[in-house]
Amino acid sequence: MFLGVDVGTGGTRAVVVDRGGRVVFSASTEHAPIHSEQIGWAEQDPDDWWRAAKSSINSVLKDSITAGYAIESVGLTGQMHGCVMLDADGNVLRPALIWCDQRTQPECDWLTATIGYDRLIELTCNPALPNFTLTKLLWVRKHQPEIFAKIAHVLCPKDYVRLCLTGEYAIDMQEASGTLLLDVTNRRWSKDVADAAGIPMSWLPRLFEGPEICGRITDSAAAVTGLAAGMPVVAGAGDQGAGAVGMGILAPGSVSATIGTSGVVFATTSSPTKDAKGRLHTFCHAAPGIWHVMGVTNGAGLSFRYFRDTFAPHLSYDQLTALAASVPAASDGMLWTPYLFGERTPHLDPNARAAFVGITASHRLGHFVRAVLEGVAFSLKDTFTLFEELHIPVETIRLGGGGARSPLWRQIQADVYNHAVERLEAEEGGAFGAALLAGTGVNAWPSVQAACAATIRPAETIEPIAGEAMRQAYPHYRRVYPALRDVTTA
Ligand code: XUL
Repeated sequence: MFLGVDVGTGGTRAVVVDRGGRVVFSASTEHAPIHSEQIGWAEQDPDDWWRAAKSSINSVLKDSITAGYAIESVGLTGQMHGCVMLDADGNVLRPALIWCDQRTQPECDWLTATIGYDRLIELTCNPALPNFTLTKLLWVRKHQPEIFAKIAHVLCPKDYVRLCLTGEYAIDMQEASGTLLLDVTNRRWSKDVADAAGIPMSWLPRLFEGPEICGRITDSAAAVTGLAAGMPVVAGAGDQGAGAVGMGILAPGSVSATIGTSGVVFATTSSPTKDAKGRLHTFCHAAPGIWHVMGVTNGAGLSFRYFRDTFAPHLSYDQLTALAASVPAASDGMLWTPYLFGERTPHLDPNARAAFVGITASHRLGHFVRAVLEGVAFSLKDTFTLFEELHIPVETIRLGGGGARSPLWRQIQADVYNHAVERLEAEEGGAFGAALLAGTGVNAWPSVQAACAATIRPAETIEPIAGEAMRQAYPHYRRVYPALRDVTTA
């Protein structure tokens, strides 16, 4: 059995997976709410992640011991990009600035001016975005120099939990790609970027490939988690990398579309495929020797939750999708742009706003719901459009997250992408992928690809039925953002 631990935003989940890919036990523990002192700020306490990780690990271990199962190795995954700052003794210096913290646009502008837009993309494959770790570090240097002066180590969220488990300062290539400090092409830290930004290389953790063993459970971690001292811990990957492993997205042509709080379209590439305009993220994959691109919609599942909580809190998601199912494809001309949290792909605009457009007195609640589900899919379609522009092949599309669990949202995605989509037998998210990386690290499978082949099975293929209606509606959707940009950000 292999243990996967996902240090998410809302909570930490632990899963125990067997060699056949069956999740035998799982447990989740919620985190304290995100602390937001000002609009656009988002912080969490790293020790709260460790508390939640201990609790979830304890719970699945108790079940495993009762059932007589032995855990062989551990893999970690989690929310990406967060900045954990530690002193020389490994003490947390301040709450972590997490992925959705949007305060660092001035630091992005400074980095872009200092290094140059094209040069930064050449060095790291990505532009400076407020989500990325380095920009958060620069904010602390400017606004809290007394804290900055004490920094000796910088880690991402799951890597702080790794430090607590193993005493090692380590990170995987996929996660490191989202710091803006990695030379993604050559899979090593970028001394050029670190020097230009004024960040000592000694602060950066050791780099490993996803399935590589990078540490072992210490005696003190064994005492509080119940894991055996000396058990190997592999590097793992950020939530998107581990999620892709968990869905078997490891070869060029295989693509996933995952609708969680945010929405991600993810494609594997055999070399780093850069977008000169920086609209896609270009990262190392969780398996050695491959890379990936992804487009991110900030407010995907969030759109549906926001709509329900605000306008129909008395109805369940199933009741709402039942109303939407009787509305024709393209919602009788109503459109939703899902920019509730600004937008990454393709607009890179933290100030973008969401909108319903084209409402008439004939539109009913079901139209609004259908427009929301379609608008989120159109937003993910924008990434497929970029893939076309950059000649990134799309052969199979696998669905993940909440968008894969609703039959209507699955059909809408097939229609909007105008491509068959697959639902998997079990879609267990990043923790499952982290467990597969853990198993690969102890040679349960010869490679990450072999681990996926042994454990992941498609359950159903959904063909488009309203592809033409959606093809006609998409250009209208595309016109909403440019038309409203000046109105909504004024
Ligand atoms: C990826 C991203 C999110 C976070 C939170 O770029 O920002 O997936 O990792 O889940």
